[in-house]
Amino acid sequence: MKLGVNIDHICVLRAARGVNDPDIIAAMFAAIKAGSDQITIHLREDRRHIDDDDARRIKALCKVPLNIECSIDKDIINIIADIAPQRATLVPEKREELTTEGGLNTDAKGLEKAVETLKKSEIEVSLFIEPNLAAINKAKELECEYIELHTGAFANLYLMLNSNLSQSKYSIKALELPRAKLKEKLKKEYERIKAAAIYAKSLGLEVAAGHGLNYQNTPLIASIPQICELNIGQSIIARSTITGLETAVKEMKELIKNC
Ligand code: PXP
Repeated sequence: MKLGVNIDHICVLRAARGVNDPDIIAAMFAAIKAGSDQITIHLREDRRHIDDDDARRIKALCKVPLNIECSIDKDIINIIADIAPQRATLVPEKREELTTEGGLNTDAKGLEKAVETLKKSEIEVSLFIEPNLAAINKAKELECEYIELHTGAFANLYLMLNSNLSQSKYSIKALELPRAKLKEKLKKEYERIKAAAIYAKSLGLEVAAGHGLNYQNTPLIASIPQICELNIGQSIIARSTITGLETAVKEMKELIKNC
């Protein structure tokens, strides 16, 4: 199982002060030293964390594959085509969201063109999608190499069932349900992810997964044999503030090493 460490949040901390501390390049080297198989960054339209200069410096210095997440906005796609990372993962993007909410709308105008532009620059393309068959069929039709399954719904259900989240101010209101109901929903969502991974793999697509994965829920997703890669940001960077980044990456690698 490959691990892509999403290092965007290093730049969230940097933005809190507006100084070059912590340094994104130092973080990239630490993640790679600790065993990160891929570096993942998200060049957002609002540049709230990673900016163009970061992306270009990371591309120039990164010794493992670079996966840049981005929207299908024409200007952003042209920048990514110019930077030419190994892979671009197309994600939905809303200015006001805290993070990538939900999978890509695969009927969105401009998706075909975005894929075509990236492919012309010999960039592998992945679509970040909900685990549903229509979206997978679209990825196949567009000749994408990868899909990345959105595990956010699974992660939220897992947290509400297995942590004290429901007793905290971070409780997810829509998921304040009886435990039996949460269990049933979690099982269903897990089965949906599994079925999507099996279907996508049967079509010849490589299958990644990500969003909301942490040190508790990751083994369940990692144990799905058709999934070959996880992209994880928040939980690793959060842990790194306590343990240091190398330890946080190593601990995640250890969790998934036999998958
Ligand atoms: N994969 C994709 C496509 C994402 O957009 C994100 C969030 O930027 C992640 C993985 C990582 O999610 P998290 O930070 O919740 O681990």
